[in-house]
Amino acid sequence: MKLNEHYLSLEESYLFSEIAHRVSRYTAEHPEAQVIRMGIGDVTLPLCDAAVQALHEAADEQGKKETFHGYGPEQGYDFLREAVKNYYASYGVTLDAADIFIGDGAKSDVGNILDLFDADNTVLIPDPVYPVYRDTNLMAGRRIVYMDANRENGFLPMPDPTQKADIIYLCSPNNPTGAVYSRDQLTEWVRYANAQDAVLLFDAAYEAFVQDPELPRSIFEIEGARTCAIEFCSLSKTAGFTGMRCGYTVIPGDLKRGGASLRALWLRRQTTKFNGASYPVQRAAAAVFTPEGMEGCRKNLEVYRQNALLISRTLTDLGIWHVGGVNSPYIWMQCPNGMRSWEFFDLLLEKAHLVGTPGSGFGKNGEGFFRLTAFGSPEATQEAMERLKKLLA
Ligand code: MLT
Repeated sequence: MKLNEHYLSLEESYLFSEIAHRVSRYTAEHPEAQVIRMGIGDVTLPLCDAAVQALHEAADEQGKKETFHGYGPEQGYDFLREAVKNYYASYGVTLDAADIFIGDGAKSDVGNILDLFDADNTVLIPDPVYPVYRDTNLMAGRRIVYMDANRENGFLPMPDPTQKADIIYLCSPNNPTGAVYSRDQLTEWVRYANAQDAVLLFDAAYEAFVQDPELPRSIFEIEGARTCAIEFCSLSKTAGFTGMRCGYTVIPGDLKRGGASLRALWLRRQTTKFNGASYPVQRAAAAVFTPEGMEGCRKNLEVYRQNALLISRTLTDLGIWHVGGVNSPYIWMQCPNGMRSWEFFDLLLEKAHLVGTPGSGFGKNGEGFFRLTAFGSPEATQEAMERLKKLLA
């Protein structure tokens, strides 16, 4: 028996597990510390009423012989695929319901999609990056080419036409930096992906934070994307579903490589390895897309947006360079006084009892940077900013 030796080349633990471990060690030693968590992007506001009501109704259905549901369709129930289709249509993107696959969150699908691709492919990944893109490719032993995201390019790297790539990852609004690609920039990426015959994996998990109508929320707003892109989205941040688990992946019927339809291959993969998201969760997800559900989500998103603005304003007042915080729940800041990322993490935890994410955990270009999230309560965010000012002013 041989192990997949590529696992041995990974960092010992996943970034957010490492942070959780360090924080619990600190709180065990300092039980009096009132720690405020702005590290992992986990939401704190509850589900909207429409989703909760739908969950209750679905639970009742599951308790009666006449309305009980067993295995559902692996690609998701039609009622939810139609709701997602209509959501896209609400901002001008026309999809076929068959292009939409319901899953248990974007993270799983972003990792699992790699089943479709050969291990010999060259993968183009921005640095800094959401670690899932990097680690899932390292697990398969794929060759990764990193593209530099930095202050000079506003943490929005653009394609180099001389660089060969088969698989390309983009996330906009970006995790971890909060930077958002413009329509023109994404058009350039789509042209590059089509010219390379590459597949562009587009993570749109934070699209609900985009308020500027000039900024694209979906890669399918860009001409030419249907022949090169797959989009991953999730209700985690849009609707507070981090603990519910529901997302969707869009693979247009026009996307073909080597003469094969990627949509058909993904369907084959899902029907073999996945039994679908649970029925009550899909009912709750469908309720999110009703007018009442959307209104409930809008109110919660507004709370997070105000938190992000407060963080951004505080950093501006402190004279600290940062990006994000507008059209995004993430704020990416330069560590003060030339500190390294983990050094600043320790300082914040010990002196202000604040938790953030060290930029270096997202890649070498993240060294010297730090990520804060806007998903806390307004009170906790206010308190965190007071502590930050006291520490750094
Ligand atoms: C993050 O903090 O980067 C995200 O919450 C992680 C995720 O969505 O998996």
